Amino acid sequence: MPRVVRSRPLPRHQVNLSPAVLQAVAGAIGRRQVVCGPHVALFEQRMAAMVGVPHALGTSSGRNAFLLALRALELEPGDGVLVPDYTLAAVPALIVAMGLEPVFVDVDPATHHMDPEALEAAITPRCRAVLATHLFGLASDMERICAIAQRHSLVVLEDCAQSCGGSIHGRALGSFGHLAFFSFNTGKNISCFGGGMLVGRDPELWSRVVAIAQGWGRQDPAALLAAVGRTLVTGAITSRALFPLTLYPALRLGARLGNQGLDRLMVEEVTPPALPASPALLADLQARVGLVQLERLPQVNARTRRHAAILEAALQGIPGVRIPQPSEGAELARFYMKVEVPHRAELRRRLLRAGVDTNADDMFACSELEIFRPWARPCPASSHIHAHSLELPNGFHLEDADVRALAQRVRDALASA
Ligand SMILES: Cc1ncc(COP(=O)(O)O)c(C=O)c1O
Repeated sequence: MPRVVRSRPLPRHQVNLSPAVLQAVAGAIGRRQVVCGPHVALFEQRMAAMVGVPHALGTSSGRNAFLLALRALELEPGDGVLVPDYTLAAVPALIVAMGLEPVFVDVDPATHHMDPEALEAAITPRCRAVLATHLFGLASDMERICAIAQRHSLVVLEDCAQSCGGSIHGRALGSFGHLAFFSFNTGKNISCFGGGMLVGRDPELWSRVVAIAQGWGRQDPAALLAAVGRTLVTGAITSRALFPLTLYPALRLGARLGNQGLDRLMVEEVTPPALPASPALLADLQARVGLVQLERLPQVNARTRRHAAILEAALQGIPGVRIPQPSEGAELARFYMKVEVPHRAELRRRLLRAGVDTNADDMFACSELEIFRPWARPCPASSHIHAHSLELPNGFHLEDADVRALAQRVRDALASA
């Protein structure tokens, strides 16, 4: 049986705590501009320019940006919002919390994104909007989805939380929909200790967005600084120097004892649908960090795209291994490297022993979840993907040589699984 070679342990993600990011944090604290300051408006302008739309508004999270979008649509209770079945559960949960109906649409097994044919088949007379989600730095087939939406008079929303900086045929993700939202949570390719942004091109909808946001408050500075502190700790224990000495041995011990506690800490739990108690706007400290990261985004995306290409080439043709394929014309921001694998649990154990920290799958097959039982629909592709997906390490923190070594370790682990 081939032996899986062990070398320097690699974390699944690493928090971007570059000197420029730390300097931005220190600048905000030093100038007492943690919450209010001039950088939010500048970051909004730069994000709008990057996406190629006239409007942007910073919020305290991606889901609060989505909440703002849903409120601006002024839908009636019971109206339908079409949403991919394979997504973060918190997204359809917000649709439910708003008194609307999530209409789940199965995904295309080849792309892992909303299947346009399934979308057309799922539309009912109560449907008012479709949310197209771009996952793992890939993209939904926006050209087909927008054509279908136009035929059925649906508003198009885009969830760009995982694909900031991606485009299709040169047109940025986030510019296809009437409104689109981004997330700057830890682990994203722009991460600002939390935060989100809504962007839009429709003047009438945007005037409603602005009116609603005027009633939103600022973030609590103490809570934001606590989030900064937590992220600094996460950054330290996932750094190249400390991961092998801290989190990695803890993960291995957990795996040996059959205790998934630590692992669960890194995956969001499903909670019952509820509206956020106090949705708030982006803070100046977050915008400072966002400006630093937005400037570096093209290099970060080019780097993670190159890593993904190395892994993809190395894993090509292995029986049972499937990698989601980008839709035609997509230029990717491939931050998350998802692959479908056989024997996932065993493979994860082998990879962890070989120094590779992986994630089982932090998305959901929503129709399988108890909280969505009244809206469940058969979505076999989504269920299959959720049961077999494995997230391999990728990110700006890896060198090409790390990725080649990683690919070899995955090949070895698969050969012996
Ligand atoms: C696909 C997707 N949608 C929405 C969100 C929500 O963003 P946030 O965590 O900033 O609220 C996330 C982030 O985790 C996500 O991955």
